[in-house]
Amino acid sequence: MSDPKFVMAIDQGTTSSRAIVFDHDGQIVSSGQLEHEQIFPRAGWVEHDPVEIWTNVRDVVGLALSHGDVSALDIAAVGITNQRETAVVWDRHTGKPVYNAIVWQDTRTKPIIEELGGDEGADRFKDAVGLPLATYFTGPKVTWILDNVEGARERAEAGDLLLGTTDSWVLWNMTGGPNGGVHATDVTNASRTMLMNIDTLDWNPDICAAMGIPLSMLPEIRSSSEVYGTGRRQGFLHDIPIAGILGDQQAATFGQACFEKGMAKNTYGTGSFLLLNTGTTPIRSQNGLLTTVCYKIGDQAPVYALEGSIAVTGSLVQWVRDNLELISEASEIETLAAEVEDNGGAYVVPAFSGLFAPYWRSDARGAIVGLTRYVRKAHLCRAVLESVAYQTRDVVEAMNADAETEMTELKVDGGMVGNELLMQFQADQLGVDVVRPKVTETTALGAAYAAGIAVGFWNGEQDVIDNWAEDKRWSPTDERDEVGRQYRSWKKAVERTLDWVD
Ligand code: G3P
Repeated sequence: MSDPKFVMAIDQGTTSSRAIVFDHDGQIVSSGQLEHEQIFPRAGWVEHDPVEIWTNVRDVVGLALSHGDVSALDIAAVGITNQRETAVVWDRHTGKPVYNAIVWQDTRTKPIIEELGGDEGADRFKDAVGLPLATYFTGPKVTWILDNVEGARERAEAGDLLLGTTDSWVLWNMTGGPNGGVHATDVTNASRTMLMNIDTLDWNPDICAAMGIPLSMLPEIRSSSEVYGTGRRQGFLHDIPIAGILGDQQAATFGQACFEKGMAKNTYGTGSFLLLNTGTTPIRSQNGLLTTVCYKIGDQAPVYALEGSIAVTGSLVQWVRDNLELISEASEIETLAAEVEDNGGAYVVPAFSGLFAPYWRSDARGAIVGLTRYVRKAHLCRAVLESVAYQTRDVVEAMNADAETEMTELKVDGGMVGNELLMQFQADQLGVDVVRPKVTETTALGAAYAAGIAVGFWNGEQDVIDNWAEDKRWSPTDERDEVGRQYRSWKKAVERTLDWVD
């Protein structure tokens, strides 16, 4: 039998699940994608059906393997990457979730985090886990499920329930489910739960106790690149090693070859997530950024990142399409925005899930400000795109304040980087070059690289660097006064959204 030619990545994202097959050069050979339902039971609540997610994962793997040039025998390894923080709790004996997945955007845990903060406030666990108390993270979502689903706490205390982010849910099901499924996660995903010590990479029993989470529910924490298990179900990647797991933003950082301290990428997806590699020492932010694990290859030392997480960027365009019905296709936003010279004075602050980095204000809600009779649809579309760039600038300003050196360029990827108007505006606002790679599916690619490195398909980071190629670069405008004026107006608009929810 000849050597396997490909590696597959499964990307279990916020709006869809995808399977992508890559060749040794990091080029896409085949793929499959299915969206899943976004469930909004109340204002501020966002859920997914974990069973639908698992069914879709199986189906997209089937789609990727139905391509004429690819068979399961050609796959050297599988990597998993995923929407982070989203909490799933399920029964270890039956495999049935006890409740829908509570998604990272969901804000229902506001009272829980306020109670946990008590007199010490949002930074109570920050030294231990690198994160402020916010509705974003997994642990308090599990607390909510155990407190609110009938019988869940008793079953959890009896050892019958397991918890995980969606990487763990997919891995456990792929490797046999109730029949010997591997219950594990990787350091990057664990670093988003609020339950893992950021220095030692172990679960923190005191925080678990404070959140009322039994230790028996927790997955084992493993590196991002090692063999966790093999596909078990007949016909479903049978016996193929599952050998890489990275949260999606860390996977994109890996796929963008940001291996040196000081290198940064921004992914424009549902939200946007800017990660700066800070080397092997975790840096505590003084400016509202998160300290997170960037990746850990097998037994090597972990590499850390500072992260600026922005909850709403691409999903704002979806909202304009689906809720306001101002456009019928997402791509229309750029066409309309290009009809006007500027935003006409309008600013959109999409604080739908409160504001994440660098503000961490769960009391904020969205606003459109600066309206006059002059403003028309095209101005609003422009303001929508501009909000993506301003929010990114907010986190870059925080990063420059935290890091010893200023960022010199930003690598970009994700769904919105085809939007040239946005990319130019982003470069203008940041005052540094914005660089897009040829393969923009860097999230899936990063997970594929982690898996491929674990099984020797690729030799290590140098192969990733060699495969990375620049596609396009945008340089900033010289009109720095105008850029500064726009950004000051943005900051005023942000002020208007605060203190909205009690
Ligand atoms: O932290 C949330 C992030 O991982 C979600 O990413 O691309 O699924 O919206 P995405």
